[in-house]
Amino acid sequence: MKTTLIFLLLAQVSWAGPFQQRSIFDFSELLSADEASGAGFDDPPTDGTGLEPMGPVCPFRCQCHLRVVQCSDLGLDKVPKDLPPDTTLLDLQNNKITEIKDGDFKDLKNLHALILVNNKISKISPGAFSPLVKLERLYLSKNQLKELPEKMPKTLQELRAHENEITKVRKSVFNGLNQMIVIELGTNPLKSSGIDNGAFQGMKKLSYIRIADTNITSIPQGLPPSLTELHLDGNKITKVDAASLKGLNNLAKLGLGFNNITAVENGSLANTPHLRELHLNNNNLIKVPAGLAEHKYIQVVYLHNNNISAVGSNDFCPPGYNTKKASYSGVSLFSNPVQYWEIQPSTFRCVYVRSAIQLGNYK
Ligand SMILES: *[C@@H]1O[C@H](CO)[C@@H](O)[C@H](O)[C@H]1NC(C)=O
Ligand SMILES: *[C@@H]1O[C@H](CO)[C@@H](O)[C@H](O)[C@H]1NC(C)=O
Ligand SMILES: *[C@@H]1O[C@H](CO)[C@@H](O)[C@H](O)[C@H]1NC(C)=O
Ligand SMILES: *[C@@H]1O[C@H](CO)[C@@H](O)[C@H](O)[C@H]1NC(C)=O
Repeated sequence: MKTTLIFLLLAQVSWAGPFQQRSIFDFSELLSADEASGAGFDDPPTDGTGLEPMGPVCPFRCQCHLRVVQCSDLGLDKVPKDLPPDTTLLDLQNNKITEIKDGDFKDLKNLHALILVNNKISKISPGAFSPLVKLERLYLSKNQLKELPEKMPKTLQELRAHENEITKVRKSVFNGLNQMIVIELGTNPLKSSGIDNGAFQGMKKLSYIRIADTNITSIPQGLPPSLTELHLDGNKITKVDAASLKGLNNLAKLGLGFNNITAVENGSLANTPHLRELHLNNNNLIKVPAGLAEHKYIQVVYLHNNNISAVGSNDFCPPGYNTKKASYSGVSLFSNPVQYWEIQPSTFRCVYVRSAIQLGNYK
C-alpha cells in the first residue's frame, strides 16, 4: 500500500528528459540488496525498555518507508528535525517552508533526491546543501527564489527551478557541476541578458536545457556540445545567431516558438547537423530559414504564424529527386501571408507523406 502511494507521488515528479537512463524512482536503484530485504528505519532499535527509541524515527506525520521520507502536504513551515540519516529520497513538496538553513539536511549523506517543489522558499543558506554528498536530483520549482543556490553538490544531475523569481543565472553557480544532465529554469523573470555568457560551459554531460517563458532576448552563449535538447520557447529572442549554435553536434530538438525572431542567420542549421526538430512557429520570420534543403536529418519544421510571404522551390528540398535526405514528418506553414496556391508543388518533392505538410491559411 505504501509502495503504491509512493509510486503515485513519484509519477508526478518524474522527468521527461530525452536521454536513456533508468527511472530514478526505480526502487532497485534507490535500494541496495540488504535494504530491499526489509531492514528499514521503520522500526528503530530501542534501548530495551521499549520506551525510548534510539536514533531518529520518522518525523511526526511524515511517512517513512524503504528509506523514502514523505512529508508532503503537511503545512510545514520548516524542514523537520532529525531526519533519518539513511534517507535516500526526501519529499517536502506542497508545504509552507520559507527558508532552508545550514544544518537542515545535516547527516543526509545518502540522499539522492530532494523535492522542495511548491513551498515559499526565498532563502537558501550557502552551506545548506553541502552535507548532501550524493545528491543527484534537486527540485526547487514553484518557490520564491531570487537566485539559484551557490555550492550545489557536485554530484547533481538534475536541477529544476521553474516558476521562481530568478532574474539572473550566474556562471559561478554551475562551476564544477560536471555531472549535470538536465536543467529546467522556465517561467522566471530572467532579464534580457540574465544568463551569464558561458554559464553552462564545461558541463560535459548536459543534455537538456529548458528556459521557456522568461525575458531573455538571445540564445545563451557557450552551450556545451553534449546538448540534445534546447527549449527556449516563449522568450523575447529576436534572432537565431549561428554563433551561439556553433559546435552543437548532438542537438536534436530546438524549440524557439513564441519569440520575436525576425531572422535565422545562415549557418545556423549547418552548426546543428543532427537537428531533427526545429520549432519557429509564432515569430516574425519573413522567409524560410536557409539551409533546410542541404540538411540531412531535419524532419519537423514548424513555421506557422510568421510573416513569410514567399516560399522558394528549393527552400526545403535539395535539387533533383534521388536524394539521401531524411524525409520530413511535419512541416507547418499556415498563418503566413504566403498563399498556398502560390507554392510550387515541387517544393515538397522530398516529402513522401502528404499529411506531413500543413499549408492551409486559416484566415
Ligand atoms: C518581462 O518583462 C516585462 C516588462 O519588463 C514584465 O512585465 C514581465 O512580467 C516579464 N516577464 C517575465 C516572465 O519575467
Ligand atoms: C519585436 O521586435 C521588434 C523589433 O525588431 C519590436 O519593435 C517589437 O516591439 C517586438 N515585439 C514584441 C512583442 O516584443
Ligand atoms: C544566406 O544564404 C542565402 C542562400 O542560401 C543567400 O542568398 C544569402 O545571400 C545568404 N545571406 C548571407 C547574409 O550570407
Ligand atoms: C511583414 O513583412 C513585411 C515585409 O515582407 C513588412 O513590411 C511588414 O512590416 C511585416 N509585418 C510585421 C507585422 O512585422
